[in-house]
Amino acid sequence: MKMEADKKREDAAQGCGDRPVRWGIMGTGRIAGVFCEALKALPQAEIYAVGSRGMEKAKAFGTAWGAEKYYGSYEELAADGNVDIIYVATPIACHYENVRLCLKAGRNALCEKAFTQRVEEAEELYALAREKRLFLMEAMWTKCQPVFQKIMEWKRNGAFGEIQAVEARFYTSATTEHRLMKNPAQGGSLYDLTIYPLMYACALLGYEPRKMCGAAAKSPEGVDTMESILLQYENGAFAGITGGLSCERQASLYIHGTKGRVLINQEHFYKAQRAVLTGWDNQPIENFEAPFGVNGYEYEALEAMNCILRGKTESALVPVEETIAVIRLMERCAEKF
Ligand SMILES: NC(=O)c1ccc[n+]([C@@H]2O[C@H](COP(=O)([O-])OP(=O)(O)OC[C@H]3O[C@@H](n4cnc5c(N)ncnc54)[C@H](OP(=O)(O)O)[C@@H]3O)[C@@H](O)[C@H]2O)c1
Repeated sequence: MKMEADKKREDAAQGCGDRPVRWGIMGTGRIAGVFCEALKALPQAEIYAVGSRGMEKAKAFGTAWGAEKYYGSYEELAADGNVDIIYVATPIACHYENVRLCLKAGRNALCEKAFTQRVEEAEELYALAREKRLFLMEAMWTKCQPVFQKIMEWKRNGAFGEIQAVEARFYTSATTEHRLMKNPAQGGSLYDLTIYPLMYACALLGYEPRKMCGAAAKSPEGVDTMESILLQYENGAFAGITGGLSCERQASLYIHGTKGRVLINQEHFYKAQRAVLTGWDNQPIENFEAPFGVNGYEYEALEAMNCILRGKTESALVPVEETIAVIRLMERCAEKF
């Protein structure tokens, strides 16, 4: 006998075949709006329902994005059986509870980064998704973008030679009014910004460095405002990573290989639409350009929808093990630095 979850997923997939995927949006903050801008441009997606902690906000957001349903609680959104997938766009410290709510109610979920603050929480959520045969993915949008995938292709086909060093940084200018400064639940610099350079360094050099050391600074309120992390690998390669909230906005990436290198400093590396692989003679080896169709969030939305339509419960572009490995490193940083 077919399990109920299988049946539901098949029905949803079949239904999705001739109708758009019905998205539920959990949380009505800044990134939820940016993500909806991408969904709105995708014919295969429908912004079907919105859930907020307050009905007024749900209604305002839902009306602005043309949602059919809006709910004044996350519980009601999760309970709506017509929702194919919920995009969780709440602060980092709420992700565990919010994703658990979605899964318990039988909903697929795409959850904003950082997926959770603790490995234990992430493992529990992925175990629950597997048990219920539901789709679950961290919304690590960078990994779904063409430039990231091209860089991974260059790595795989040996275009860099041996990668000896990765240097990556992400700074933003956050006043005391910034969400990261005001609300410790947002995870501070480490979980919100430094996750990007850390994720990139791990994707290039490996998710299990031999050594990790660093230091962090905190605001008087205890919000982590800046950190610098050094990773050392078995083969002698290093990654130097910095993230911070009190500097002018800048995000750059340098990949240093024995044969080739890439420097992304004209655009923010985590959303770059162009990358040039350069040889040691400074001549370009390959010039890759892939302008976004919308705002860069369409790739993760498409990946999630493609997975659901194909009956997959996990994404190959954002593998569970990699999401968890990065959380493990951040957890160690948060404890030690
Ligand atoms: N992928 C990216 O490029 C990107 C960029 C920025 C942020 N993010 C991630 O997206 C998530 C949300 O960031 P954001 O910039 O959208 O934040 P935000 O503007 O503060 O919005 C967060 C929303 O979460 C809901 N919420 C639930 N519990 C909350 C609480 N205890 N305190 C405050 N809000 C709460 C609120 O919606 P309701 O009141 O409607 O319930 C709020 O509007 C974070 O995980 C962040 O790391 C990702």
